[in-house]
Amino acid sequence: MNVIAIANQKGGVAKTTTAVNLGTALELSGKKVLLIDLDPQANMSSYLGFEDDDKETMSDLVMTAANNFTMGAQKRDMPVVGECIRHSEVNKVHYIPADIGLAYADACMMQAATRESVLKFILSDETVREYDYVIIDCLPSLGILLINALAAADGVIIPVQTQKFALDGLDMLGEIYNQVKSTINSKLDIIGVLPTMADNTNISRSIIEKLTERYGGKMFDTHIHKSVEAANSSERRKSLCLNKTKLGEEYRTLAVEVERRCKT
Ligand SMILES: Nc1ncnc2c1ncn2[C@@H]1O[C@H](COP(=O)(O)OP(=O)(O)OP(=O)(O)O)[C@@H](O)[C@H]1O
Ligand SMILES: [Mg+2]
Repeated sequence: MNVIAIANQKGGVAKTTTAVNLGTALELSGKKVLLIDLDPQANMSSYLGFEDDDKETMSDLVMTAANNFTMGAQKRDMPVVGECIRHSEVNKVHYIPADIGLAYADACMMQAATRESVLKFILSDETVREYDYVIIDCLPSLGILLINALAAADGVIIPVQTQKFALDGLDMLGEIYNQVKSTINSKLDIIGVLPTMADNTNISRSIIEKLTERYGGKMFDTHIHKSVEAANSSERRKSLCLNKTKLGEEYRTLAVEVERRCKT
């Protein structure tokens, strides 16, 4: 099992688009993939066609585990992780949805003794371990949920929108990454930095140059270009990789790179 966190605290850089389309591309290449929505906005869940059902979600898993990690708290029965896994018929991929309740996770985890390991504990479930890839769509924040994702992950993919201000905040993300790696998760690695929404402008080219100076071999060769296909795809709740689209092709190429990098 390979756990990949898609992270950048900057909003709107294509984390969710990357999680969904990398996930479906890997699944199409024959891998077993589980997508985890770790964002209270639940954009990934809606992209995958999730309709509210009465079953438990990521919020229930996180809140219950956090409660049970809290000293003195009355222990609650954990939801069965396998029962939280949904299947998107259209996108042919498994996922655990989120909902707005996850916004309270910070507060719930505050009291937990090992609050950074709540997600790691959830993902240690045997049904999860059967997947080749577990891909976590992180929220745009540097809070405890992000730290949980980095603590549970083998590697992180950092999508960077190749537009103005793109580099702001990458230092802070790097600092958190280093802290998690040096304290709770020494195996954590940067799988790659992914330029997204690239276009033919000088600013886009200059951001890619700066990223390459900074991250060198950690840069993915694949760049995701700017296209209205992305918005159409999430609107239709259908992965870019299911039809012949330019971005779908790019995400499939990315999947090949990810597989190669995860093996080495
Ligand atoms: N390659 C692309 N070209 C053009 N638009 C894109 C591309 N990728 C994503 N978008 C659009 O940009 C917006 C933000 O994308 P997305 O939701 O994937 O970002 P995010 O990083 O997950 O955002 P948040 O931080 O809010 O979770 C969406 O409207 C999406 O359709
Ligand atoms: Mg998102």
